[in-house]
Amino acid sequence: MKIGILTSGGDCPGLNAVIRGSVLKGIKAYGHSFVGFRDGWRGVVDGDVIELPRERVRGISKQGGTILGTSRTNPFDGPNGGVENIKSTLNAMGVDALIAIGGEGTLTAAERLSHDGLNIVGVPKTVDNDLEATDYTFGFDTAVQIATEAIDRLRTTGESHHRCMVAEVMGRHTGWIALHAGMASGAHAILIPEQPVHSDQIATWVQEAQNRGRAPLVVVAEGFIEQGHTAAHSERGLDTFGRRRLDGIADKIAREIEARTGIETRTTVLGHIQRGGVPTAFDRVLATRLGMAAVESVAHRRWGTMVSLKGTSIESVHFNEALGRVKTVPQERWDEARLLFG
Ligand code: F6P
Repeated sequence: MKIGILTSGGDCPGLNAVIRGSVLKGIKAYGHSFVGFRDGWRGVVDGDVIELPRERVRGISKQGGTILGTSRTNPFDGPNGGVENIKSTLNAMGVDALIAIGGEGTLTAAERLSHDGLNIVGVPKTVDNDLEATDYTFGFDTAVQIATEAIDRLRTTGESHHRCMVAEVMGRHTGWIALHAGMASGAHAILIPEQPVHSDQIATWVQEAQNRGRAPLVVVAEGFIEQGHTAAHSERGLDTFGRRRLDGIADKIAREIEARTGIETRTTVLGHIQRGGVPTAFDRVLATRLGMAAVESVAHRRWGTMVSLKGTSIESVHFNEALGRVKTVPQERWDEARLLFG
């Protein structure tokens, strides 16, 4: 069989480990050959590929980013898009099946194409860890590690100056990165999209920490919605996909903290640092296992499914179990963390 691999949507550490896992398993267990589509669905639509022999994936699991490139191209758009055009393109290249590595948008497109007759299996990916039907996504552990190290550094400078430090982390719809990095670094307040909090309460937590002689530390997810507001803070308009660009909530909160407490406050937005660089060992292992399992799904012709982590096992679930809803931070995880605030 000839299998095509694509990475689509926002990148995250571990994508290359998935590619390597698939290629090695496919070659060693089944004698498959592989091509990689450049820049996600854009490469599929344009028939733009690179060969993926074993040598091409040598040593790549520790590399951040994706050797294939990525984009947020919609495969149904443009003169070469749509299922019939893509079928012809794949036939002309002799590609029998696709492994699509991506998040909600990528897998939604994969589901539709698979419904229309393409042989596709998915591998879930999101640094935000907000996809349903999988316990964790690769990239998340790395993002938490990067954020925790950064926040630890903010804490020491905050303590020197007796300042309040506010760190803004990624998390568009959910607060997984904020919750984990915040707990790991012992934050005095963690603010997540799932739990609106009033600025008076944030100021109280900050003041309590300072009263104990601590330099207050607040970790906020970019998608946090203050109580009394209806949407996440966004001052920078829309991105090219029509999504609101989320950053700046840390600055807003810092101003409110200063106004209410008089404590000098500084902010840091970690941004794409969290998505770059070397994946952690956990993410490399998870990504490699998912890549290998995707080849097994192809061998069993489980079209329209994605591989997922359940406990410590890799399983196979239908796309519709994962799509259309986000895996939010459960109330009990918030309650558990909240007890330590202030
Ligand atoms: O979905 C992952 C994510 O990193 C979000 O946390 C963030 O809002 C968004 O992607 C940023 O997207 P872009 O890389 O297009 O700026």
